Amino acid sequence: MGKWALVTGATAGIGYEFAKLLASENHNLVLVARDKTRLKSIAKDLKSQYGIKCEVLVADLTKKKSLEEVATRISKSGKRIEVLINNAGFSVNQSISNGDYQAEKSMLDVLVTAVLRLSHAAAAQMRVNGGGDILIVSSVASFMTGGTYSSAKAWATNFAESLASEVNKYGVNVSALCPGFTHTEFHARANFDKSEVPNWMWLDADYVVRKGWKDHKQGKVISIPSLRYKFFVVMMKITPSSLIRKVQRKK
Ligand SMILES: NC(=O)c1ccc[n+]([C@@H]2O[C@H](COP(=O)([O-])OP(=O)(O)OC[C@H]3O[C@@H](n4cnc5c(N)ncnc54)[C@H](OP(=O)(O)O)[C@@H]3O)[C@@H](O)[C@H]2O)c1
Repeated sequence: MGKWALVTGATAGIGYEFAKLLASENHNLVLVARDKTRLKSIAKDLKSQYGIKCEVLVADLTKKKSLEEVATRISKSGKRIEVLINNAGFSVNQSISNGDYQAEKSMLDVLVTAVLRLSHAAAAQMRVNGGGDILIVSSVASFMTGGTYSSAKAWATNFAESLASEVNKYGVNVSALCPGFTHTEFHARANFDKSEVPNWMWLDADYVVRKGWKDHKQGKVISIPSLRYKFFVVMMKITPSSLIRKVQRKK
């Protein structure tokens, strides 16, 4: 019988690709997102294609009650979650000082609070149950300054490194997957014009997921798919932050 994996944001983009990949590896799945119709349809397809068990958990991760329901499912004995993919997320694409506060707060609820709550629930049971896998979908944005989104992703990458250092010795693998621009629904949802980004900068979601999962299984704590984004991150690390801020101010 396969292990149980829980994927947040499984209805689209990177999360959907994770659901397919894990199903193809014979994991049973708990799919989490807000859109019930879409979740049910994906679960039906994955069950019939891969012969796995698949539950759906309709949850808006900005809502405390829903978040607790997901955390409870992670700790459930008998069908305990051995793989957690913290993937759900969105960007509000607005300035901090001139934007809507509630929108910024909701984004942090999903990108930070939900990741903390669910990773905490998973790590607590995995360390006493002989191990597991926690992958956090962060971003190359975590290595630069770029509004509340970048700040939240910087937290996510650092959190993955911190948690990995703490729980690796209990057989719990933790990693941050840090993609660059990836074709998903993310940009349309954020009213971001994709044509502003040159073609060569785009990655495909299935490539990002395969590379991230392979790196995770090899014990890499930070995964940056593609050479061009590895180079970008090196440049961000060696560039003085005062210079990065200067460029940002001119935007
Ligand atoms: N695409 C990129 O260029 C890129 C680059 C770097 C990092 N990322 C990160 O990758 C992750 C996945 O994004 P994506 O690009 O795959 O975007 P996407 O195609 O828009 O998918 C986002 C997923 O998150 C779910 N979601 C959004 N808000 C939610 C909420 N409040 N509660 C529960 N689920 C919610 C959505 O489902 P429902 O609408 O059904 O709830 C959907 O399944 C995010 O963390 C994002 O920050 C993306």
